[in-house]
Amino acid sequence: MKRIKIFDTTLRDGEQAPGCSMDFAEKMELALALERLGVDVIEAGFAISSPGDFESVEAIAKAVTNCTVASLARCTRKDIDVAYDAVKEAAHPRIHVFLATSPTHMEYKLRMTEQQVLDTISTMVAYAKTKLDDVEFSAEDATRSDREFLAKALTAAVKAGATTINIPDTVGYAVPHEMGDLIRYLMENVEGLKDVDVSVHCHNDLGLAVANSLEALRAGATQVETSVCGLGERAGNAALEEVVMALSTRKDAMPYYCQVDTTRIFPTSRLVYSILGVQAPLNKPIVGANAFAHEAGIHQHGVLANRQTYEIMTPESVGVNTSKMVLGKHSGRHAVEDRLNDLGYTLDAEEMDKLFARFKALSDRKKAITDADLEALVLHRGMDTGAPYTLDRFTANAGNYVSCSAVVRLKHNGEQLEAVALGDGPIDAAFNAVDIIVKAPEHRLEDYSIQTISEGKDAQGEAMVKLRAGDRTVTGRGLSTDVLEASLIAYINGMNKLL
Ligand code: KIV
Ligand code: ZN
Repeated sequence: MKRIKIFDTTLRDGEQAPGCSMDFAEKMELALALERLGVDVIEAGFAISSPGDFESVEAIAKAVTNCTVASLARCTRKDIDVAYDAVKEAAHPRIHVFLATSPTHMEYKLRMTEQQVLDTISTMVAYAKTKLDDVEFSAEDATRSDREFLAKALTAAVKAGATTINIPDTVGYAVPHEMGDLIRYLMENVEGLKDVDVSVHCHNDLGLAVANSLEALRAGATQVETSVCGLGERAGNAALEEVVMALSTRKDAMPYYCQVDTTRIFPTSRLVYSILGVQAPLNKPIVGANAFAHEAGIHQHGVLANRQTYEIMTPESVGVNTSKMVLGKHSGRHAVEDRLNDLGYTLDAEEMDKLFARFKALSDRKKAITDADLEALVLHRGMDTGAPYTLDRFTANAGNYVSCSAVVRLKHNGEQLEAVALGDGPIDAAFNAVDIIVKAPEHRLEDYSIQTISEGKDAQGEAMVKLRAGDRTVTGRGLSTDVLEASLIAYINGMNKLL
């Protein structure tokens, strides 16, 4: 069995996809979850792209100790300097430099000749190497590059000291046999390639990212770049959960292993979807609600007789909890803490105190508290800590013959601020009242949704709003057994981010 490295780019390629931006606290929480998941490398961001990115890459580099933390950089001194500054305090820092090698990118984007590209790679990889020993070089759009030129470019990167060579299928153009052939060709034609890590970074435009990554492993790659739930530019990157479970389930066909703890897959994907305020598509492999559901009679009959009839992996192996245990009003702190530990969450004493208080408040409103409810409380914990505005109280009036109105009171720096507003419905009225209180900047509500966490009329609702101001989009989230309250919390959460 050959050990494969998993390089996770959810916080970089994933986060740069439309609708997937995360704030500082969300990025930090996800980085720590990725560390617990057991990935080898976390690409924490593109440090030069904004002061916010720099700040989060730097903080993640300091907080994460068990895996390598990388920052992306273009092939320029400035980018490399900033990437280095952001990761330099990591236990295992990496600079990831990239330059395109395809004719289209060189001509239209870079406006550089082949020779200029080769020289830049040599100079900039060598420059990054003066800063850190661990340097990854990516030949952007490698799969649409001329093979001979690509081999020259990668040889230059290896000679200049790159310790990982990444071969991206930037536009998701390759098909599996081609990807395998390309890696084999490069193994034979790039001097020194066998002495460094060979990585692939496949996009999913044709739905082939995972297949291409697995084929690359068969051809000799030693690192796969993935993202949780496949987030990434356009159709995304190879989904971490699919690559890892393919390796783990089909050891007989692919003699490779990685150090990801598969039982952390579901909680990590749940965290990602919760941050984005969306749910996994029903049929999403591994983490979708139907991934382990059996509806057809014949299937149910088979599974009852022996799960292996229709299941190639168990829900437990990916951390899907199948227990039907519920907690309630009379459950004590220990029971709640034990249940959380079983679900894979470890909270410090202060966080546990706050969570237990929220659990008690919920148990006054809801009879049976399921694992999903408990998990939602954890995922929404601390969301308004330090936020400028928090919800104090509200009332709303709705009906089909009257104008809808809402009175909302927010807390702000120890003050209580109240406003009344009308709207097309109670939610619109309540949002309008918030706008008045916070003197909201010009913005647009791009998306709003509410989903139930568990079954029953007393279920908690998880609300999500997407607000756009200029070219910035933020996501706000809220949780409550009251639909309007969940929506208001989500709106205030989003507005705090905008402000
Ligand atoms: O898709 C791509 O080519 C990339 C590189 C920057 C690695 O994301
Ligand atoms: Zn990419």
